[in-house]
Amino acid sequence: MQLITTIAAMRAARAEQTLLGLVPTMGYLHAGHLSLVRRAKAECGCVAVSIFVNPTQFRPNEDFSRYPRDLERDLALLAAEGVELVFAPSADEIYPADFGTYVILPAADEVLEGAARPNHFRGVATVVCKLFNIIQPTHAYFGQKDAQQTVVIRQMVRDLNLPVEITIAPTVREADGLALSSRNSYLSPSERAIAPQIYQALMAAQARYQAGERTAATLKHTVAALLQQEPAFHMEYISAADPLTLRELKLIGPQGALLSLAVRLGSVRLIDNLLLTEV
Ligand code: PAJ
Repeated sequence: MQLITTIAAMRAARAEQTLLGLVPTMGYLHAGHLSLVRRAKAECGCVAVSIFVNPTQFRPNEDFSRYPRDLERDLALLAAEGVELVFAPSADEIYPADFGTYVILPAADEVLEGAARPNHFRGVATVVCKLFNIIQPTHAYFGQKDAQQTVVIRQMVRDLNLPVEITIAPTVREADGLALSSRNSYLSPSERAIAPQIYQALMAAQARYQAGERTAATLKHTVAALLQQEPAFHMEYISAADPLTLRELKLIGPQGALLSLAVRLGSVRLIDNLLLTEV
């Protein structure tokens, strides 16, 4: 496995590959990231993983400086998966002092994570576009855990004709249902103990959906009412949206719905989602 930190060295290493699967990450890897790596390995043979805590997708008051980092551990995990290339550049390598071009999807900033975190998706789209240009993968892999991110990436790839095939892989969860996230490491033991209620609340709404309920407000209320029983949760939003356009739905039709939420638990902000689809 090669650890690469400069754009020039990355370009040189990439030139030797035909099929190349990219898994972009911010490091502090867990089984969710590794599921993407395995998928890439199975489909492409040769895999590049980027590890870059991208400053432009954090707001000034967010957790950029305290975001968990452990490069040594990440490298050991990736070596064990048979990854060929790890790209871990410095912030200056990606954003030199004269950097000035951003990829902006205005619609993404109006809803869900985009509305809650202004400029977040500008940072995500810009860095992913740069990673695609630097690494030139044939395929790239993203997790359903960050549902709006997958919509943003797909739109960017379509709009800018980026020659990369995008695959979205399912959310990997702990045995108790909590979606794996690097930010789970911020949870205190008592917060960790109640965090699985988020998934349980989503599942309760899914059960009502499967029993025939199609009114979005009722399904959202099911989730909100369950989470309100635990005073430590502060609901930021709960949404039932069209899975492709992310427009909020009143009635869920054949297109199904993305049921997604953000909650605060102490100082930790957690997101999760389920796709409601007709079986
Ligand atoms: P990060 O949060 O490190 O996640 C990297 C990739 O792993 C993303 O595609 C994310 O959706 C996926 N992922 C995270 N948790 C997962 C889980 N429990 N199950 C399955 N997949 C999971 O997302 C980012 O980094 C950044 O925004 C990035 C795309 C790298 C751009 O900076």
